[in-house]
Amino acid sequence: MAVKKQQEIVKQALQKHQHDKSLLVDVLQDIQAEVGYLPQEMLEETGRGLGVPVSRVYSVATFFKAFSLKPRGRHLINVCLGTACHVRGSDKVLAEIEKELKIKAGQTTKDLKFTLETVNCVGACALGPMVIVGEDYHGEMTPEGVASVLQQYK
Ligand code: FES
Repeated sequence: MAVKKQQEIVKQALQKHQHDKSLLVDVLQDIQAEVGYLPQEMLEETGRGLGVPVSRVYSVATFFKAFSLKPRGRHLINVCLGTACHVRGSDKVLAEIEKELKIKAGQTTKDLKFTLETVNCVGACALGPMVIVGEDYHGEMTPEGVASVLQQYK
C-alpha cells in the first residue's frame, strides 16, 4: 500500500477519535479494519499523531490478540489441537493443511488468501477434529477432506 494512502488512513482514524490518546485502541481498530493489519509505519504515525511514545503503541498493538502486526489472509483457518480433537487425529489434519498451503501454523500464504493458526478446544469436541475457517465450522475433518474444504474459499 502506498505511503500516502497509509498516512491518509491514519489521519482519518485520528480525526475520527479527536486525537484522543485514551482512544488509542479504537484508532488501531479502525486502521486494522481498513488495512487488514497494522504496518510498522502506521503504528509510528499513530504515535506521532496522538503524542504517545511509539513503544506504548507497540505494547498495545501486541497485547491484544485481535491486532496483527503482519499481513493476514482473507480467511483465517484455526485447527483445533485440544485433547479430544488431537486423539482423533487433528495433528494429521494440520499437517495436511500445511502441506496443501505450503505454510506452517502461524503463517500466511503469499497470495494473502489464508492465515493458518491453531486453537485449543472450541467447545465442539464431539465433532472433532474441528477446523474453523472464518465463521465456518468443519467437523470430523480428515487429511483426505482438507483439499475440498480449502477449495470452498476464494
Ligand atoms: S478439543 Fe477440539 S473442539 Fe474440543
